[in-house]
Amino acid sequence: MGIQAVKVAGQEACSAAVGAPRAGGLSAFDPLDPATVADPFPRYRWLREHAPVQRNARGMWTVARFDDVRRCLHDPRMSSRPSRFSVIARRQREASPPARVACSLLPLLDPPEHTRLRRLLAQVIGEQRVGSLRPRAQAIVAELLAPARDGAPFELIAELATPLPVRVIGEMLAIPPADLPQVKAWAGEFFHIFGPAVDGAAYARLSEAVERFSDYMRGLIAARRRSPGADALIALIAARDDEDRLDEHELVVTALLLFTNGEEALAYLVGNLVWALLQAPEQLARLRGEPALARAAVEEALRYDTPAQIVGRTALHDIPLGGETIRAGDPVYLLLGSANRDPARFADPDRFDIGRRDSGHLGFGGGPHACLGAGLARIEAQAVLEGLLAAGSRWEPLIDRPEYRATLFARGLKRLPMALRAGR
Ligand code: HEM
Repeated sequence: MGIQAVKVAGQEACSAAVGAPRAGGLSAFDPLDPATVADPFPRYRWLREHAPVQRNARGMWTVARFDDVRRCLHDPRMSSRPSRFSVIARRQREASPPARVACSLLPLLDPPEHTRLRRLLAQVIGEQRVGSLRPRAQAIVAELLAPARDGAPFELIAELATPLPVRVIGEMLAIPPADLPQVKAWAGEFFHIFGPAVDGAAYARLSEAVERFSDYMRGLIAARRRSPGADALIALIAARDDEDRLDEHELVVTALLLFTNGEEALAYLVGNLVWALLQAPEQLARLRGEPALARAAVEEALRYDTPAQIVGRTALHDIPLGGETIRAGDPVYLLLGSANRDPARFADPDRFDIGRRDSGHLGFGGGPHACLGAGLARIEAQAVLEGLLAAGSRWEPLIDRPEYRATLFARGLKRLPMALRAGR
């Protein structure tokens, strides 16, 4: 997620600026509307039932049903390149160097560039490769949760769910812990390239951040080449496919990708998962009695309250779908959050049920761009659940109502203060 989310968010803001026509009522799906952000599910239901493929209020297509979304994720006529409406496409036309970096990121590529880069990257962060990181993720969770023992209040998102993936990626790339805040800050600054409102000063800041990040990574790569270790950076340097391998620019861009993708998404997944368990005490009790259900609980949260609610595509050809024709060049929103609540695919879809048998959600997308960090995300989220259960079996939220982030592109709680106590 991450980059995908800001990419579509930037596109949305841009198309709003050109003043596309607006529809009214429930049909006006608007991922920035506060009521929709707070509870998108009634709108999704309406779309699935009345307009499963619809040109939305800002002139973009929305696809709401599970089967259609899955078909589009696998359809080679659906491009992942930014649409003509997007901020990033405009900056690319202006030949901005950071935009060139952004457009060479894996999630924004199509075959054949995408196929080649993904194959190399999968050798390093693919699901089969990351199992050995589990004990480290567990140890980092235990360390971050130490202040939360004996009922001391703590804030799940800021104190655990956000630092955990940064620490894990930092260790994977062998970045010295003291450098981590700075490296993360550069990567975060770069993110603004996708945003709608980058003025001259902000643009200069993000250009400098990309340069600093690149210089830093080039230095690190040179050092690792001189004295290789067992980390993922060295594996990336060595990753090869026949005679093909990543060049230095690709290594730097991949490091940027790993830093910016996944961190936010994991924080949202963890917040949504813990909140869902707090709202369904019988499910929490079940998990407490059977901690091996942690894996299933993570999957159910990915379905029930999907962190990446929307992924964006651009039609390369005219595509007939659901009685409509999506025209070549049109931007398309695939509503993963709606697909994952489709009663045609999941029984009783609005119920959070960690014992569900009909898995197969689209929380990590699907098809050629399916999340490459899924294995890592699963390990981290399970480590959080296990750590929370070990720290105290009675979980108390210290808020009555959740407050969600401002857009639906990445759905997650802003904060979740809570306390963990012993006992039932
Ligand atoms: C809970 C956490 C996460 C969620 C919900 C999530 C979700 C997603 C989704 C939905 C996509 C597909 C986007 C599309 O089709 O356009 C995606 C792609 C991707 N994710 Fe994740 N992600 C998570 C964590 C991570 C982590 C931890 C990493 C790596 C460190 C990561 C790396 C990637 C990459 C590299 C892609 C692009 C794959 C490609 O374009 O071929 N993700 N993610």
